[in-house]
Amino acid sequence: MKKDSITRRKFLKKTSIGATGAALSVGGATSVYANIVKQADRPAILGGKPVRTEPLAKPWPMYDDTDVQMYLDAYHAKNWCRLGGSLVTEFEKKWAELNGVPYCIAATNGTSSLFASLSALGVGAGDEVILSTYTFVASANVIPTLFALPVFADTDPETLKIDPNSIEERITENTKAILPVHIGGGAADMDKIMAISRKYNIPVVEDACQAWLGEWRNKKLGSMGDTGCFSFQVSKNIPSGEGGAIIGSDQKLMDLCNAFTNNSRPPRRKGATLSGYPYPGLNFRMTEFQGAILLGQVRRLVGQQNLRIQNAEYLDSLLKDIPGISQVKKYPGETRNGYHLFMMTYDKKYFNGLPKRKFTQATRAEGIPISTGYTPLNKEPFIEYHLSSRVFKSIYSKQRLDKFRRDNRCPVNDVICEDVALWMGQRVLLGGRKDMEDIAEAITKIQKNASKLL
Ligand SMILES: Cc1ncc(COP(=O)(O)O)c(C=O)c1O
Repeated sequence: MKKDSITRRKFLKKTSIGATGAALSVGGATSVYANIVKQADRPAILGGKPVRTEPLAKPWPMYDDTDVQMYLDAYHAKNWCRLGGSLVTEFEKKWAELNGVPYCIAATNGTSSLFASLSALGVGAGDEVILSTYTFVASANVIPTLFALPVFADTDPETLKIDPNSIEERITENTKAILPVHIGGGAADMDKIMAISRKYNIPVVEDACQAWLGEWRNKKLGSMGDTGCFSFQVSKNIPSGEGGAIIGSDQKLMDLCNAFTNNSRPPRRKGATLSGYPYPGLNFRMTEFQGAILLGQVRRLVGQQNLRIQNAEYLDSLLKDIPGISQVKKYPGETRNGYHLFMMTYDKKYFNGLPKRKFTQATRAEGIPISTGYTPLNKEPFIEYHLSSRVFKSIYSKQRLDKFRRDNRCPVNDVICEDVALWMGQRVLLGGRKDMEDIAEAITKIQKNASKLL
């Protein structure tokens, strides 16, 4: 064990409960020590001293002189569009290699990667796509933009991933794709999802926009479905401001994705014979600047992901001693987590009934940036906006739209959003063990003082 680390038992002694007793025994309740302890023990939201005054999240994005030089080289090369350059192509090769797949197509962002994937699979008017509900809005909004219905599956309350039983319940003859999200970087249950895909012959688009280098049974997340999509938006673990990629193994499908991101063009692969504009397409091309940034960023990805895993495991071990809060469960098939988020489940019963939102306000006042997480996506107004649009009303009968509205319920996900799910962003996992101890200390402090915070 490293010198600066402490055991879990010592940690608990060091936190407010242990510290109070120790200080009082030195000088009595009226001593100066007692006052200091009182201050430290009182929640910061009620005027006490915060556990943490230094920011917990590391500055982001990170870069060094080499990154800057690579960017400037792209600038001076004057091939600002990838059609004349080689940097995006170089990144595509690297990303395909890292993910163990033959093909990678870079794109403007994760949203366009999902859009191109579903388009290449032929998803369109009259179709249904079953997707995770506990996710960022971009996973969903590509579907109605293609004039298909986003069928929200309910969420597994222990893992916060899509519930495979709920997928199967929602399959109809109109289901054209399944879109599971590896939210936070943890794996959805790919054994069950791929079994459903095979059973009903429905393709899978993996939303791995938060799951770079995560694994399921040692295969990379994103590499098991018909396509896998990534985001390199600036908050992401490998950032390029905006950016995205599609990976896959099916040549024909990837040719369609390629055309979709590159104005209908055929692939530039050796031996490819097509010319002109053979397939449907738009322009979702990544610029050479993004290529340069990603080639710089990818150098530190594995090291940073390892550090995130190490810190997450330590924090997980500390949380095991605090009843009512824990890291979300992982499916046994998950062999590596991409850790975009450290996701937790909260049980207010162990916090004197303190609602989740009050808990996060209190922890934030302690300097610990815990988020209340996503809101119920299936209830967001953009869905009804599409349903009541002129185009949707011309594609779908009133009965079908009304049935969709009636069935669009995810009761487990509602409870998760309201009372259970919490998370912290990846930047808090880039510090040291003391940072993780501060998180656990703040949670313990709030737990101890929960009745005062109601
Ligand atoms: C789960 C998920 N899917 C899709 C996206 C869309 O990616 P982008 O922002 O690059 O378009 C994001 C990005 O935040 C995401 O987190």
